[in-house]
Amino acid sequence: MRAILAAQPRRVTIVDNFLSADPANVPEHPAVRLVIGSITDDRILRDLDDDIDYAFHLACYHGNQSSIHDPLADHENNTLTTLKLFERLKDIKSLKKVVYSAAGCAVAAKTFDGATATMEDAPVSLFHDSPYSISKLIGEMYGNYYFTRYGLPFVKARFQNVYGPGEILGAGRWRGTRETVWRNVTPTFIWKALHGEALPVENGGIATRDFIFVEDMARGLIACALRGAPGEIYNLGSGEETTILQLAERVNSLTGNAAPIGLKPARDWDRSGQRFADTSKARDQLGFVASVGHEEGLKRTVAWTKGNQDRILRCVMQHAEHLPEVRAYFKMDLS
Ligand SMILES: NC(=O)c1ccc[n+]([C@@H]2O[C@H](COP(=O)([O-])OP(=O)(O)OC[C@H]3O[C@@H](n4cnc5c(N)ncnc54)[C@H](O)[C@@H]3O)[C@@H](O)[C@H]2O)c1
Repeated sequence: MRAILAAQPRRVTIVDNFLSADPANVPEHPAVRLVIGSITDDRILRDLDDDIDYAFHLACYHGNQSSIHDPLADHENNTLTTLKLFERLKDIKSLKKVVYSAAGCAVAAKTFDGATATMEDAPVSLFHDSPYSISKLIGEMYGNYYFTRYGLPFVKARFQNVYGPGEILGAGRWRGTRETVWRNVTPTFIWKALHGEALPVENGGIATRDFIFVEDMARGLIACALRGAPGEIYNLGSGEETTILQLAERVNSLTGNAAPIGLKPARDWDRSGQRFADTSKARDQLGFVASVGHEEGLKRTVAWTKGNQDRILRCVMQHAEHLPEVRAYFKMDLS
């Protein structure tokens, strides 16, 4: 959002029901209009401006585990959202681009035997590990349909693993599992490391991910909006493969956490263990290359976490009734 505001738009409308986000992340800016509610709400859809230039569709039911716990909530906030939004956007003739946040995890091969870089046109399985993953692919398919049938200028940005300042553990409403708080590996590791805890590393930490810093991701999304060709897919990633063990070691080193790593069994649902993206298409066709290295990005995320402890603690604590373990956290000197 801050990257968009830097381009001095006339107006930016954000629609969010704060299911997995915190209002504190919405920038206070005269161009920003915040509409609180679901993008499935007919009244909200009807009231959208009819002269929108660009639409970024980022809403989802976060994340895999929540969707396994409650597939219908995933459908409501991850599939119906997409369909109703595209159905409304198809009538907005001013649209130059609709950028959809597709998920690299839904496309990557299911392997623990060494990943090869996932290409944009990699074959997609009909068997998926979570309703979330299915919903993200359905979103791609609906977008392709509206592109083909109505000429919706639809571009798919396939996200790899985004991390960085602004991701608040526990942001939003309780979604039925502990992953409401421990929502992604990077902020979880940083928070726990800053509190001197053993980082929980599953399956020996052999899983790999392609981590992309949030500011790079924002640049990539804007590149999709400005230079993406309608109907096309672009991987937005760093193209670098990092093991979860490497991530844990880097976080421990940057935070000075001396606690030994806590090895845990593998997650029973996750079969796409090792993955990273081929980034040559985004480089050649969008001129997009991620520029923030993993160490540097982590360093900036650690600094942000220390500086935003109050906000994070407030969001984590709102789930204490469901997840009593978070009561152990209190304001600490993280400096
Ligand atoms: N972060 C990643 O690594 C990653 C990887 C792959 C794909 N993605 C995709 O990128 C997008 C953003 O993900 P994120 O990680 O920033 O997650 P996030 O939880 O921060 O963002 C999702 C947003 O959607 C909102 N939302 C949920 N239901 C809604 C509804 N019915 N109406 C309006 N808003 C609703 C949430 O409150 C939240 O602000 C998602 O579509 C996600 O699937 C992210």
